Formats: sequence, C-alpha cells, structure tokens
Amino acid sequence: MTADFIDLRSDTVTKPTAGMRQAIFEADVGDDMSGEDPTVNRLEQIVAAMFGKEAAVYNCSGTQSNQMAVRAHCQQGDEILIDETGHIVNYEQGGAASLSGVSARMLRGPFGIFDVEDLEGKVRPDNQHYCVTRLLCIENTTNHGGGRAWPLAKMNRVANWAHDSGLKVHVDGARIFNAAIAGGYTVKEFTRHADSISICFSKGLGCPMGSILVGDTATIYRARRARKAFGGALRQAGMMAAAAIYALEHHVDRLQEDHVNARAFADAIANVEGIRINVDDVESNLVFFEIAPERGTSAQLSAQLLEQGVRINPSGPQRLRACTHLDVSREEVLRAADAVRICMERGVDRATANHLVGTAYASK
Ligand SMILES: Cc1ncc(COP(=O)(O)O)c(C=O)c1O
Repeated sequence: MTADFIDLRSDTVTKPTAGMRQAIFEADVGDDMSGEDPTVNRLEQIVAAMFGKEAAVYNCSGTQSNQMAVRAHCQQGDEILIDETGHIVNYEQGGAASLSGVSARMLRGPFGIFDVEDLEGKVRPDNQHYCVTRLLCIENTTNHGGGRAWPLAKMNRVANWAHDSGLKVHVDGARIFNAAIAGGYTVKEFTRHADSISICFSKGLGCPMGSILVGDTATIYRARRARKAFGGALRQAGMMAAAAIYALEHHVDRLQEDHVNARAFADAIANVEGIRINVDDVESNLVFFEIAPERGTSAQLSAQLLEQGVRINPSGPQRLRACTHLDVSREEVLRAADAVRICMERGVDRATANHLVGTAYASK
C-alpha cells in the first residue's frame, strides 16, 4: 500500500522508525537457540522484571506465544475457559485443539470482560465423563470485545476465583500496554495474579515482529520446548529483540496519543447519519462502529473508503474496526473520519465492493 493511504486497518501495519532501525543495525547477536543471543537474553530479563515474573521467552508472534502458553499449562484432553470473542479461540486456527489437543468452553461477558458470576459452574467436576478444566484465558485489551481494558479489581477477583478452583490463568496481553494506560494501572499490577502473559511488539509498539511470553521458570521452560516443537526456535534474533527493547523505551508512553486519536475519530463520526457508535465505548486505540443495515454493509463502506484513500476493514456484516497507531497522525484520523462522512452522504450501497463481499473479517 502506498503512503497515500490512511491505513487504519490495524496497529500491525506500522513501519520501524529511524531510531528503531538504528537499534536493529547495532544489535549484538548470537545463537538464541543455544541461549547465546545477548540482546534476546536482555529483552527477556527486562520484560520478566517489568511484569514481576521469573522468566520470559521471546518468539515470533502473539499467536505463537498464546499457543505456547496453552501447551505449557495444559495436557491433551484438557479444556480452557475463554470469552467467546477471544483471539485464542477465534483467530488462531483452532491451534489449541490441533497443536495441543485442548478444547475450549466459552464465556460471555460484556465487551469480552466476564466476572466471577459468569464463571460459576464452568469448572467441570472430577468425573470420567468430563475433560479437565485447566486454564482461564483473559484478553487485555479485548480486541473483538471492543478494545476495552479490564478493570484491575475484576482481574484480581477472577484470577483469585480461578486459582481457588485449581485453574491457571493466562493473559493474552497483545495490547497490554494500551490496557495499562486505559485502565490506569501498571502492567505488573495487572498481571500480579497471572501465571503467564503474552505480549506483542508488532502492534502498538511498532516493531516489525515479535512477541514474548512471561511466567514462572517452570512454565517458561515448558513453553520454550513448545516453541521448538512449533517450529519457532530462533537464531540471531537479537536484531528483532533490539527493536523490542527500543520500543519499550520509546513507544509505550506515546500509546496515549493513539487513544486520544481514536476518541477523536469516534467523536468525528458519531454524528454521521447511518453510523452507529457509542463514543464512550472507545477506551484504547480500537474503534468499532456500525453502518445501519438500511444504508449498506460494512464491506461496501470499506470499499468506498478505499476509494477515498482510507483503509478500514469490516469486522462483521455491519461492523467495522478502525485502529490508530504510530504511523497515523491526529490530522489523518480526522481526514479518515471526514471520508466516512463523505461516503455516507454519497451512499455506499451503490458500491459493488465485490472484492470485499464475502471475505473474512479482520482479526489482527
Ligand atoms: C488479542 C490478540 N491476541 C493475539 C494476537 C495474535 O498476534 P499475532 O498476529 O502476532 O500472531 C492478536 C493479533 O492479531 C490479538 O489482537
């Protein structure tokens, strides 16, 4: 895509900044598979300390981190509890089942955030008819739940409930730094009761790739073994780890800017006729909104926006998701909002949008 497009499809579309490229260029490297990459080792130590845990393992992607966590915590035949909007259960190709023989039982909470009442009766009794309920998964921020940050008190309540029920707790923290800013807590406070946390560097933090899984020594040992089995063991990965360290130093505080821009976009489209959005639902860098069915489909609006130089993906038949990030300015998000207004005023149902109709909805 050319730079002429305002790209709000995802925070994964960012390109490394000059400073990050310099950090990549200067990285000290070695064979990570043998534990000899000094920059990967440093990143793992930094992140483990930041989250108050014993160990961490750097890897390729958020999906890989999550699947390593499932494998590390569960045995074949076990079950995880997860909100029905969760990434692990919707957008990872059923990896828990195919890679680890683990099934999932759905929870349902507003915006992907459940509470102990939603968990009552969800742990299966010890009986040979049932699988063993082993792991509770929490996503923060919730992606398809609406970009919402878990309240700290709720996280503590739910995690305590899980531990009292004999379960482990995994946090899919692909956007955990966005959550901490939106929720008004530190990442360490939020994950105090978590047994593992996956974090993405390739989203709001602006790295070309990379994720890390954090937890206690024994869990990370098992996860590291899973990383190898999943084909994700790394060699001179210090170049990408250097990008991650750079991002932790330079790109965390600025996430607030993305949140402010997201809210500005939401405010600007809120009064457009045919668009449905509750601006108070926007807490982080993800803005979900709907086009009224009588005015067209999300695919049609997305196609019309493309003609206006704006990329926003559908995330359901009527629903779209706009995502702010490092590579879009306030001025650009306001131009994107103006493009939504122009498209709606012209009418989107005249668009053929054939290239989008029927395609899968964005997950990133
Ligand atoms: C909540 C959440 N978890 C996990 C992932 C997976 O990350 P990746 O694309 O790096 O595999 C994503 C992004 O797609 C996500 O939004």
